[in-house]
Formats: sequence, structure tokens, C-alpha cells
Amino acid sequence: MTSLSDIRSTFLDFYARAGHEIVASSPLVPRNDPTLMFTNSGMVQFKNVFTGMETRAVRRATTAQKCVRAGGKHNDLDNVGYTARHHTFFEMLGNFSFGDYFKDEAIPFAWELLTRDFGLNRDRLLVTVYHTDDEAAQIWKKVAGLTDDRIIRIPTNDNFWMMGPTGPCGPCTEIFYDHGPGIWGGPPGSAEEDGDRFIEIWNLVFMQFEQFEDGTRRDLSARSIDTGMGLERIGALLQGKHDNYDTDLMRALIEASAHATSADPDGPGKIHHRVIADHLRSTSFLIADGVMPSNEGRGYVLRRIMRRAMRHAHMLGAADPVMHRLVPALVRQMGAAYPELVRAEALIAETLRLEETRFRQTLERGLRLLDDEMARIPEGADLPGEAAFRLYDTYGFPLDLTQDALRERGRAVDVAGFDAAMTAQRAKARAAWAGSGEAQDARIWFDLAERHGATEFLGYDTERAEGVIHALVQGGAEAGSAARDDEVLVVVNQTPF
Ligand code: GLY
Repeated sequence: MTSLSDIRSTFLDFYARAGHEIVASSPLVPRNDPTLMFTNSGMVQFKNVFTGMETRAVRRATTAQKCVRAGGKHNDLDNVGYTARHHTFFEMLGNFSFGDYFKDEAIPFAWELLTRDFGLNRDRLLVTVYHTDDEAAQIWKKVAGLTDDRIIRIPTNDNFWMMGPTGPCGPCTEIFYDHGPGIWGGPPGSAEEDGDRFIEIWNLVFMQFEQFEDGTRRDLSARSIDTGMGLERIGALLQGKHDNYDTDLMRALIEASAHATSADPDGPGKIHHRVIADHLRSTSFLIADGVMPSNEGRGYVLRRIMRRAMRHAHMLGAADPVMHRLVPALVRQMGAAYPELVRAEALIAETLRLEETRFRQTLERGLRLLDDEMARIPEGADLPGEAAFRLYDTYGFPLDLTQDALRERGRAVDVAGFDAAMTAQRAKARAAWAGSGEAQDARIWFDLAERHGATEFLGYDTERAEGVIHALVQGGAEAGSAARDDEVLVVVNQTPF
């Protein structure tokens, strides 16, 4: 069986032979985009190269990029463990051209790698193109000999890739694998496209435009290529599996979880092991990249993921903290490709151990409260927001942990009620502060924190970073601008200071 590690190096070596520099994955906390919570695709580290703001000595690059999709625009957290292909952490394999080659080389590269180096059956492959992109359709016909029915034109944003509301973007072509009529599902663009028969394996983006906040676009001065292929997906395909969690790497983590909890990896606790395996990866890589658990911003997303995994370990009957004991298995699997994991191994294990020790002190009591509340409310009713808020505030249960716990019972949380309870508590904190005799002007910090969230500290990991200026404060009040020699406080969304 070809391991995920081998597939990763086959991909990188293929593009290296074609003149691409193998560039290391960038950190999960983007340095060059202060608006993005986590790096969520391979192109993030090259964003400014595509727009022309930054130049690089090489015009071809290839990466295996660490990505986290949890919190923010791309959020896969809720589905993890329950489906075959959702992850909070995954690796994206990509090749990039910065004003060098375009469609006519990107498509043959991809076809050659898939059908020759990876040995995929060409009769199983089909593609989509943006509905107006005749050029891409022609290249597919010429290079791969695909017939018209296997080049599907899609008129929606599914085939127009944008990194976010602003930034570089362009039409794309996606490559799909057909698992055959034995599996339910229809081709892309059909009503049954969400089935499991046709699986998207690779997205090739033809970067041609830059989109601005007001919705306008300009042509990029250099047309470029950005591609993204999930290693876990192509790995499952090449290993003859239908589920990403059955690949060698994920399976090793599931086995480690089974060993640490003495619970059958394929028994009734199967979902718990899957959640633990996924969350072990995202939490460990986030800690290695300088994120620490906290109650705000990125640190809170990390805490949410950690605690969620810890509840699943508890469900497996683990009497003691488990997560930190799984770190060596992860380092064995991924440490060679990501040396930062090896360097941070002790910190990761200790952070997980401390958090799990602390959380276990309230976890059981919180779960009992949840049981009591559920017994009290009518069949099928949502958990009242008040109760979910008490679980959050007193027992340290992030909202999505409570939702996850209820999902197993087919119930939901009254989220509006939860938000109302949160707002009421904030108002109480503000009133208490106002009455505490502190300087009146300190109230401005509550206003700013409520409007913008807390400033995130990046100094664990970097001494340089970009930030968005949220406010200038002068003499206890917000100022619209500042002039030379003015003394102002500058409030940014993130800073290493
Ligand atoms: N940037 C290409 C992708 O994420 O699919």
C-alpha cells in the first residue's frame, strides 16, 4: 500500500522535476493576512505574489500545506467524525505558477501525475470547467481525450474560486473520480451531486483577477496557477478506501486512541476515535504554530477543538487524560514531513495534559447537568439557551461541545437563547465595571472589545506580523486620525508586541 507520506513526496517530487521549488508549509496562523483566522489553503502564503505586491525569485512552487478549517468562513468542525471526508486539519497538495505557465501546462501536469505517477484509471476521471471557459475545455479534450459528456460546464461559483470576499481569484477546473454505479450519487451539477459516487479530488485555479471590497475586479498583471488537492482524499482513493479515516495515517492515530482507551477502534465508540484522531492533528499543529488555548479568538477555537476531543475520550470510558498520550503516535506519522511537530512535542503534550486535567474537573458535573436538563424538557424540544449558557459559563462547555453532545440524542440547542444569555452577562460585567470606581474612560475598552473582539497575541511564534488597525484612542476617546507627534493608543486585531 502506498502510504500518505509516499503520496505526499510523489506529488512534491513530480513538480520538483518540472522545475518547481519545494516550499515548506507556512504556519497555520497566516502572517500576511490579518483578516484570516487560519491558513485554509495552499495559496494563502502566496497571496501577495499573485497580486504582484511581492515578488519571488522562483516562478514555480509546490507545497504540502497544513490547513485548518474550524471557525471563520470555512468551518468543518460540526461534521468531523460523522462523515467520511470532513476534517478540521488536512494537508493540501498544490503547485503554483507565478506569471509563468497557465492552463495549457497546468492541465497536462495534473493529468500526467494522476494517470501515470498515481496510476489512476483514466476512464474513471471526469472534469468540470467554468461555463464560459472554452479554452480549458479544449485543453482537456486535447490532452486527456475526454469526451464532451465528461467535461461538465458549471455556471456557478463552484467553478470560480475566491480565497475570500477580496483577493486573487479566477475560474477553475475540478477533477472528479467516478466510483461507479454501485455507489449512489450523480455527476457534478446534477441533483444527486452530493452522493458518494463522484468525488472531487483536485481543483486547478486559473488566477486571473483580484477582487476588491466594493465587488469590482481588476485583471492581474500576470496570469497564474494555484491548485489544491486534499492529501487525505487522494490517499483514500489510492489506498482503495472510501473513507479518509481508513487511510494508513488516520488509522494509526485511531489505533493509538483505541490503545490508550482500551476501546475497540471499530466498535460502538468508532465515532469517538475518529473525532479524537482528527482533533489530535489540529490541536497539535496549532500549538506547534504558537496558538495557546484561551477564551478569545484563535485560542478559543483551539480550546473548543481540544475540549470536544476530551469529551469524546471521556465517552470512551477513559479515566485519566488521554490526548497527551497520543502525541508520540502523531509525531511518528507526521514529524518527518513537519519538523515543527518534533520541536514542539513536549509543549504540545504538556498543553494537552494541563487542559484535559483541568477540564475533567468540570466535565462530569456538566454532563450530569445536561442529563438533568434533558430529562426535564419535553420530548424533541431544544435545550434552553439558559442551560447551554450555564454549561459554558460554569462548566467550561463551549457551545459546539454541547451541540455535539446533543447531536447523539437527536436534539439541538436554542442558540438564540444562548446568545441572549451571553449578551445579558456582558451587560452585567460592563455595569459592574462602571460602578467599581475605575476611571470612567476605561469604558471605551468594553466598547472596543465588544465591537472588535480582543487583540490576539502572536509573540509566542513570531516577532513580525501584519495587523488590522481597529481604532485609535486619544485622551480616553476614539480618534478618527492622528498627526505627527500626537500620542495615541493604536488598537490592532493581532500583534507580536
Ligand atoms: N486554492 C484552491 C483550493 O483551495 O481549492
